[in-house]
Amino acid sequence: MSDVNVSFEQMAACVREARRQGHLDESSRAAIFHDLEAMESRLTRLENAFPDSALHAVAIKANPLMALLEMLVEAGAGLEAASFEEVQLALEANCPSESLVFDSPVKTHDELDRALGRGIYLNADNFDELDRIDAAVAQIDGPIRAGLRLNPLVGSGDIEATSVSNRGSKFGLPLGPNRASILEAFDRYEWLRGLHLHVGSQGYELTRLTEGVRRAWKLGKRLDDRLPGGLDSFDIGGGLPVAYRDEHRAPTFEAYADRLRDEVPELFERDVRIITEFGRALQVPCGWAISRVEYVKHTFEGPLAATHLGADFMLRRVYQPEHWYHRMAVLDADGELKRGESEETWTIGGPLCFGSDVLAREASLPPIEPGDWIAYRDVGGYTLGMWSHYCSRAMPPVWGHRGETLELLREEETERDVVDFWQ
Ligand SMILES: Cc1ncc(COP(=O)(O)O)c(C=O)c1O
Repeated sequence: MSDVNVSFEQMAACVREARRQGHLDESSRAAIFHDLEAMESRLTRLENAFPDSALHAVAIKANPLMALLEMLVEAGAGLEAASFEEVQLALEANCPSESLVFDSPVKTHDELDRALGRGIYLNADNFDELDRIDAAVAQIDGPIRAGLRLNPLVGSGDIEATSVSNRGSKFGLPLGPNRASILEAFDRYEWLRGLHLHVGSQGYELTRLTEGVRRAWKLGKRLDDRLPGGLDSFDIGGGLPVAYRDEHRAPTFEAYADRLRDEVPELFERDVRIITEFGRALQVPCGWAISRVEYVKHTFEGPLAATHLGADFMLRRVYQPEHWYHRMAVLDADGELKRGESEETWTIGGPLCFGSDVLAREASLPPIEPGDWIAYRDVGGYTLGMWSHYCSRAMPPVWGHRGETLELLREEETERDVVDFWQ
């Protein structure tokens, strides 16, 4: 899906436009941008890849920015909530209850009551939760439909920390040993009519994503055959990876859907609603950010640019640099893309008070001066949503753009906002 990825040239043009409009001046520390056309185009491609009846519940956790959620809902997407607070975000973004999927693995009694009372579809994580739901259902008028999360046990992907289909996973019911009890639960609870799986996020290629779906569908098909009225929904989760590096190629939504059609054809032939919960593949390539170089220093290991974004924004990159990466470029203070390479490689330091708050080591980059900007690609998901208040730095402004037309999606936090946060 590289055709809709924003290039460094496009970023530089946007930065120049933002400067022209007076939005980025010498006091600006950083800014975050989201390519709205790219996001909408990705959503359209996702919708076209799957049957019209599918519900695409975009994972809020990937990027919980209200303006983006509103746009997605407006464009016909549903939303997937990983916490009850995310349910509130979804409702605030005008997501209809029937397009909302509530997936937290630790739902309280109260959260279950409130979600079910509003007609929100939810996926239960375990048998105890099914019992809680059953107790709640007795008190509620109106249709209740829920699903059950399975762990199809396809094993860990390339990144252990984001793999949830291994034997030690804290999510869902492992399929093998629980098969008979799961069938019994569906017989017992007439409101239980959906299956859910999500094998992990990034680090799984199509073969294993598809294998997870294939294993879960085996049970899904059996349920569809034996339940009065059949199975309502089959939720395949998210997990489609993105290419953070030039040498990587990411599978497209179309390629994933085609593979599923080949290997699990009946899922597409039966009257079972497919639900998807993509986050990363939809959002990550649409986001980019710039961070001002405040100082250039010289360590015993070479030159270091001291900048204004670090683990507060790119948490995974800083803590697990072996797994996460963001392509970088250097823009001068006016927003012109710098080209060429310095004689020495660079360390790019973040602003937080710990030694490993570093975004790149030994990076081949053009010469860098104070006042330049470091631009980062592929930060549209799992960055802002993981914003850390460590060292209490204010969140930068977030701009949406269509080409070079800018719209403010979230104002920069003020020092007052940060003080209020801690009260
Ligand atoms: C249950 C569930 N669904 C969907 C997602 C979204 O995954 P991705 O952003 O990789 O598509 C996640 C991510 O962790 C998840 O836990």
